[in-house]
Amino acid sequence: MLYGLMTEEINYSYDGGLYAELVRNRTFQDDPTTPVHWSVTQNTGATSSIEIDKTTGPSEALTLSLKWTIQQANVGARAGLANEGYWGVPVRPKTTYKASFYAMSDGPSVGDLTVSLTNDKSGKMAASTTAPALSTNWKQYSVALTTGQVDVSSNNHLVLSVGHPGVIWLSMVSLFPPTYKQRPNGNRIDIMEKLAAMKPAFLRFPGGNYLEGDHIPERFPWKKTIGPLVDRPTHPSPWRYQSSDGLGLLEFLEWCEDLNMEPLLAVYAGYSLMQEHVTPGPDLERYVADALDEIEYVTGSTETKWGAQRARDGHSQPFHLAYVEIGNEDFADHSNSYDARYAQFYKAIKAKYPALQLIATTKVNSMKPDVIDEHYYPDSAKGFFDDVQHYDATDRNGPKIFVGEWATREGQPTPNFAGALGDAAWMTGMERDSDIVVMACYAPLFVNVNPGGMQWKTDLIGYDALSSYGSPAYYAQVMFSNHHGDEVLESKMDGLDLHKDDKGNPHPLLFYSVTRDAIKGTIYLKVVNAAATPQPLEIKLAGASKIGSDAMLIRMKSDSTGETNTITVPTRIIPVQSTIKGIGADMHQTFPGYSISVLEMKTTPAM
Ligand code: AHR
Repeated sequence: MLYGLMTEEINYSYDGGLYAELVRNRTFQDDPTTPVHWSVTQNTGATSSIEIDKTTGPSEALTLSLKWTIQQANVGARAGLANEGYWGVPVRPKTTYKASFYAMSDGPSVGDLTVSLTNDKSGKMAASTTAPALSTNWKQYSVALTTGQVDVSSNNHLVLSVGHPGVIWLSMVSLFPPTYKQRPNGNRIDIMEKLAAMKPAFLRFPGGNYLEGDHIPERFPWKKTIGPLVDRPTHPSPWRYQSSDGLGLLEFLEWCEDLNMEPLLAVYAGYSLMQEHVTPGPDLERYVADALDEIEYVTGSTETKWGAQRARDGHSQPFHLAYVEIGNEDFADHSNSYDARYAQFYKAIKAKYPALQLIATTKVNSMKPDVIDEHYYPDSAKGFFDDVQHYDATDRNGPKIFVGEWATREGQPTPNFAGALGDAAWMTGMERDSDIVVMACYAPLFVNVNPGGMQWKTDLIGYDALSSYGSPAYYAQVMFSNHHGDEVLESKMDGLDLHKDDKGNPHPLLFYSVTRDAIKGTIYLKVVNAAATPQPLEIKLAGASKIGSDAMLIRMKSDSTGETNTITVPTRIIPVQSTIKGIGADMHQTFPGYSISVLEMKTTPAM
């Protein structure tokens, strides 16, 4: 369980990121006064205008809509309405896109509505189709758009067009490309494949600050994120934009299912970021009840109220759940109410679900929490180099540790090689202490690299509308998560050179961990050389029997700490795998400057 993922709606992580929806502001909730990200197309002979209409919407959740008034249009000069997508709409050749929308018109005279993918520069349509005639009542329409042999590009708009005057109201205008495992309302394939390569054991969701919201009514509203999309009202995220909630509670769980991850569910615990808290006791009861409902939604049989709701939403099988986190970063709550809030949640959840491990987000004095979540964000790699032994002396009788957010914040929007070195050093420490550090996850996971896409610098995976890339720190995670044993071997390092830092203080720049897969007998030696110079080492495997003479070496290195990957040069720094010979009980290996290495050696399994 050591390596997992942490996620929340930040940096356009879901909307404009993992969640494959291509239409931005699809329900017109982003700004109740202006249809942002929408425009009417300029076409000689056609005139139309758009505005938000607060008097009608397609559902109780979506009470406003876009009113599109077509003053002038004809079959040769169609009036058009365009959505710009999330920094462009990506188009690929020979691909089928699913478009849908809710609409009504003021009468039949407006005629057919055409849906197309149109190139911004050439004005050419990459795909186009006509929807059935619109009704004068709200109705959903669905069409498929298939591209021909077009160029791959993100310079496109989704365009709706009509050839006659009239009035049309629209909401939930949606466009999906093919998704990972063909899930309807699913996720982007390229990003999911990058996550799959990390072999994550768990997913911590939905936050982070996103769980808490700035104000209590803006907390993650899980009950309003389930069921048909048209019944989800959307909500403001503390990261300064509206969340579509298309990636809601069930979609988080299906994301876990798709990548074989254990869900680690964080429940709202009565604290929001602008120093608002719910007083423990009777006032908190309804939030505790809401968390119990949420756990029932995840784990309950279809005989239960919320398990039945999950089945109606399309997933009759309950999900396995072992960990629930009570809140997020509650050390920030100046009222000091967390101790009593945690205790109240703990008592109620344990009474119904005794097997659940309940994670506290800060110190609790009145009782011993099962697990404590701790966060670390050093702004230089040195912060982690100097703290690699952080958990060596932690009380083994205390709560288990979950390092629920951590990252070396060097490089933006994604970390550079210094970031990867700091992270890798820190991971050697967490591996060595993984009897007490039971789980860890980097944060934040995602960033949309377009201007305005980033609210938090140094994020593991970057993307734009068309493609995604892993930072060197991402590849460090892949290396560590794919190659580790299930036991920590006793080890020591002697004769290490110390390097002087800028203040003249000596400190080590070489870090390592040794673990073994007890059943296979494989030993994983990880060595991080954060110095510029190569480091020759004599490695002695005392006590190992029948050591294979070949080993697999996975190594990532760089000429400088500032080097990195970008959206245009996505694989400048990646791990390289090779087979090396001459492995034995006493051997010499040299570890290049600025390198992260995993040596996978075969030995006879322990009896
Ligand atoms: O990871 C970014 C933010 O850092 C998280 O939302 C919050 O928990 C932490 O302060």
